[in-house]
Amino acid sequence: MAVLNFIFLGPPGAGKGTQAEIIAKKHGLVKISTGDILREAVKNGTELGKLADGYMKAGELVPDEIMLGLIEEQLEKIDKGFILDGFPRTVKQAEGLDELLKKKNMPLKAVILLDVPDEEIVKRLSARRVCPNCGAVYNMIYNPPKNDEICDVCGTKLVQRKDDNPETIKRRLAVYHEQTAPLIDYYKEKGLLVRIDGTGEPEKITRAIEEVIFK
Ligand code: AP5
Repeated sequence: MAVLNFIFLGPPGAGKGTQAEIIAKKHGLVKISTGDILREAVKNGTELGKLADGYMKAGELVPDEIMLGLIEEQLEKIDKGFILDGFPRTVKQAEGLDELLKKKNMPLKAVILLDVPDEEIVKRLSARRVCPNCGAVYNMIYNPPKNDEICDVCGTKLVQRKDDNPETIKRRLAVYHEQTAPLIDYYKEKGLLVRIDGTGEPEKITRAIEEVIFK
């Protein structure tokens, strides 16, 4: 069977979630978004949520050991292939993932790096709105809902993520450059890294990713 396991890497707001959602649905892959899983845990007040909340609000990373445990659990659910959105984020997480994937005989096909400049990130994240009910994601500049801040899908009032404020966006970007960007070289050395221009129309970006996936 063809190997269809991918990592989507990139700064906050690069469009990892947007692209992972489209491609996973279209090609029958499982999207594993660590940010979404953590936000759900915070909403439900679970032990994981209580632990993660402070880190997320501050724009810091949740500790590696917790994230590796969470991913191991998620990998149990994979059938055809997966897209990891937001994991790994440190070299330690990447090394832990390598071990897990080796044990499970689930090789990676590619690591897709969505390249977007910092100025564009700040603009995108400040304008992001999400539906607290169905999870739909909008952008007040690029992809606004039809009616002012109301979800097109379920009619619920949209909200802003707690970490989408100017101060936390700045910290998330700094954390990305310090702790996550080293993964670019990590995966380049393994011959897995594919750089994709993450600016412009989402449809154009989807096509560019699909060319890699089905190459
Ligand atoms: P997480 O939820 O993963 O946040 P992130 O990496 O900061 O990524 P975002 O969700 O902000 O952006 P995205 O790239 O998915 O962009 P999106 O498609 O939404 O993590 C949140 C927190 O959880 C972390 O800070 C950390 O605390 C914790 N955490 C998560 N994983 C962890 C891990 N592995 N280890 C430790 N801690 C972890 O798009 C953004 C906006 O732009 C949207 O409004 C969208 O509509 C718009 N947009 C998308 N594409 C385009 C386009 N082409 N043109 C214009 N606008 C676009």
